[in-house]
Amino acid sequence: MSKKVLVIGAGPAGYVSAIRLAQLGLQVTVVEKEYLGGTCLNVGCIPSKALIAAGSLLHKIGEASTMGITATGVKLDVEKLVSWKAGIVAKLTGGVGGLLKNHKVEVVMGSASFVDRNTVNVKTKEGVKTIKADDIVIATGSVPIAIPGFAFDEDKVWSSTGALAPKRVPQHLVVIGGGYIGLELGMMYRKLGSKVTVLEATAGALPGQERDCVKVIERSMKKLGIELLTETFAQGYEHKDGKSFVRIKTKAGEKTIECDQIASTVGRKPYSEGLALDKAGLAVDAKGFLAVDKQMRTKIANIYAIGDIAGQPMLAHKGSKEGLVAAGVIAGHKEEYDARCVPAVIFTSPEMASVGLTEEQCAAAGKTIKTGSFPFAASGRAMSLMDTEGFVKIIADAKTDELLGVHMVGPEVTELVAEAALAIEMGATSEDLARTIHAHPTLPEAMMEAAEAVHGMAVHIYQKK
Ligand code: FAD
Ligand code: NAI
Repeated sequence: MSKKVLVIGAGPAGYVSAIRLAQLGLQVTVVEKEYLGGTCLNVGCIPSKALIAAGSLLHKIGEASTMGITATGVKLDVEKLVSWKAGIVAKLTGGVGGLLKNHKVEVVMGSASFVDRNTVNVKTKEGVKTIKADDIVIATGSVPIAIPGFAFDEDKVWSSTGALAPKRVPQHLVVIGGGYIGLELGMMYRKLGSKVTVLEATAGALPGQERDCVKVIERSMKKLGIELLTETFAQGYEHKDGKSFVRIKTKAGEKTIECDQIASTVGRKPYSEGLALDKAGLAVDAKGFLAVDKQMRTKIANIYAIGDIAGQPMLAHKGSKEGLVAAGVIAGHKEEYDARCVPAVIFTSPEMASVGLTEEQCAAAGKTIKTGSFPFAASGRAMSLMDTEGFVKIIADAKTDELLGVHMVGPEVTELVAEAALAIEMGATSEDLARTIHAHPTLPEAMMEAAEAVHGMAVHIYQKK
């Protein structure tokens, strides 16, 4: 009889792990309290990218007159947009259900709570069900952080979830937090027609990301007409006659901004409420994460943690990878999480993508580096797409030429970053990238040229010796 494994949470970490466990011949049960596909498929990655694609299309139509195309009578039907997005979510989450079924994974809809290290109680609609398992994988994800004075009512104050199911396009949207979600959704609403003001606590947008790339994003926000107020804190708001009055504190003093919608996107926190981890001998750390080793094992040998609950970066693909590792380990394979890099993609306008170390991180690690970059303004493909903002920047080790980091901002860089991730994962040098023939005319040529620029040999830009 094969081992019995229980996975708690069916997000991109949990459902991927469950499918792999079943592929490896184990008996698997998944417990999910809300929706198959978790945050990512239901209220995160997928719905946000659908709305962002719609915003970009609408914006592009407006710009098409440069190409000699003038479209008249272009209208936005918000209800239809939201139902199109919901259709994509339904198709994908239905697909996850189908995959779990085909792999003979038992799905129990309900909320799990530990009884001991091998047992959980699941509160279902029909009552409490007790499940015993040899191994348990915790994949309970994360939830949005609410700040004082801005409780989410998904009416006047949206979390990302409310912002992804609008009934109308706000006239003036105030976004608190200029991170991943604030910028992706703020830019999307601007393109759909809202006036947008972003309040960011730190000195610039997207703290922690490569600053040269962020400068391009900040410039583009300005061009789009988005106001970014840095070193600014929202203190609270009053609501009167359909308007919200947001009190803010900036370097220059305090003032009030009038708007008709607030979105608060100041980060997410790991979620373990109601799990009764103590019954299994576990506790979260000060930030709410469950500590794990390279095999995704918690301090209790038969309990694993994966995805957002297991630490930063809180990204879907990192959680899925951890899910695959945990499944392999549980099946008895010699496996550990040994990824050299986790790519990050931000669907701003232009897009931004990063993999490996930033210059700041290289300096902190005492590495001597050489860099090369190539602007999309010199790319024929970017010009033909009418999308020339941004660049690719490559950071290589000065002695060995090994790729340490690739950072880019510009057209379709969220796709381009896959090549950079593979190169770093394979231990490639910048010369390897430079010597690889890239098809013409394509955007990835910018990667090849940036790699050549590391050696002062880019052909399509002039590099002063
Ligand atoms: P989750 O997806 O949060 O899934 C956890 C699941 O566990 C949930 O379904 C929950 O209901 C369930 N659960 C919790 N407790 C229990 C319990 N006690 N019993 C039973 N079930 C339980 N990441 C990217 O990589 N790319 C993106 O483009 C991207 N865009 C995003 C956009 C938005 C607006 C948001 C909010 C997030 C985005 N993310 C993105 C982040 C991504 O969604 C998360 O990193 C990812 O969903 C984490 O996966 P997970 O499986 O760890 O957790
Ligand atoms: P975030 O951590 O990316 O950004 C939060 C921002 O809010 C930061 O810039 C922070 O300085 C600011 N902030 C914090 N408190 C504040 C305050 N009181 N007032 C003003 N600003 C304040 O968090 P976000 O955007 O909520 O996203 C959560 C996570 O979800 C991301 O970190 C990422 O892991 C994931 N995500 C990934 C996406 C992708 O991969 N494309 C897209 C969206 C989310």
